[in-house]
Amino acid sequence: MDERPYLIHLESPLDTPSTTEYLVRGWVVSKAPIRAVTTGRSSPRFLELAERPDVRTAYPDYPHVAGFAGRASADSLRGDCLSLTCVIGETDYESRHELNPKVLPPAALQIRQVGSEWGRNFYLSGGIMFDQITAAFEEHGLPLANAARVLDFGCGCGRVLKHFDRFPHQGEIWGCDIDPESIAWNRTHLAGVARFDCNASLPPMAFPDGFFDAIYSVSVFTHLPEDMQFRWLEELRRILRPGGLLLASLHGARYWEVDPGVKQEVLERGFAYRRGEATKGLPDFYMCSFHSEAYVRRAWGKYFDFEELKPSHLYGAHDSAILRRPS
Ligand SMILES: C[S@@+](CC[C@H](N)C(=O)[O-])C[C@H]1O[C@@H](n2cnc3c(N)ncnc32)[C@H](O)[C@@H]1O
Repeated sequence: MDERPYLIHLESPLDTPSTTEYLVRGWVVSKAPIRAVTTGRSSPRFLELAERPDVRTAYPDYPHVAGFAGRASADSLRGDCLSLTCVIGETDYESRHELNPKVLPPAALQIRQVGSEWGRNFYLSGGIMFDQITAAFEEHGLPLANAARVLDFGCGCGRVLKHFDRFPHQGEIWGCDIDPESIAWNRTHLAGVARFDCNASLPPMAFPDGFFDAIYSVSVFTHLPEDMQFRWLEELRRILRPGGLLLASLHGARYWEVDPGVKQEVLERGFAYRRGEATKGLPDFYMCSFHSEAYVRRAWGKYFDFEELKPSHLYGAHDSAILRRPS
């Protein structure tokens, strides 16, 4: 099981904190029963829990769902962070939500990367995925804390990568993307977290052979046509050291099962690519791809040793394919 078996989302609008209290609203989904959501440190305040059928539909892999709302006391703020505690099963999980994040990409870049302006949830969602990704690498015997070099392939504005700022590690962190605006933004705002490279739409990259111990990639192979996917698998294999690990997110059954045409194609040949509306600011090839596990085992298995496919792993949505460069 993932280290953090739940997802939490703080919804806007959140009224301006007065000196004594303010309104909070959001939802949590979990693999174990949600017993309470509280705020406040000296005397925890219980928020009201309610059904959220809209959220339930969006996260079918999480059996327990609760909306929460209520007035939080000012002592639930630490600096500019709201602290919420979810009591799930037998465990208290505390999460911190930056109310007015000092580092937040401009709306246009958020929309380019996640489809809409997520505000404070932009990095919150990345933090949850960061924990899921680091736990997966650990599970596969390559803790990122000890890796000499890690690459976030297609890092956008560092939604996931930013969280290395709170993760004790010894090595170099790199992020790359084809989007020069995102890379420029990262170089200004996340320079203390990682180094950045702007790559072309097709390989090669500037990195030498075997440069990285670990590469992860969130929502990139979900957008590439099949031939381009193979070019990049070959390139990622080249820059990963023998024995190094790749974790790539994919649109799995949760995505392809809902469209009969896509489902049929994925069941027949394991992969489908659909053209739709272009994403403003990104090249025309950047569309929507879908994968089956059998395809990843077979087709990606020509480049890597297949280790595992975790269904709906990241933020309850994308599958994670985990593969190792053969020694
Ligand atoms: C859906 S966004 C995800 C960004 C980031 N990984 C995240 O989770 O917030 C996909 C990103 O992949 C980038 N991308 C697409 N093709 C790429 C490629 N061949 N190499 C590097 N980045 C690529 C896009 O520019 C975009 O920033």
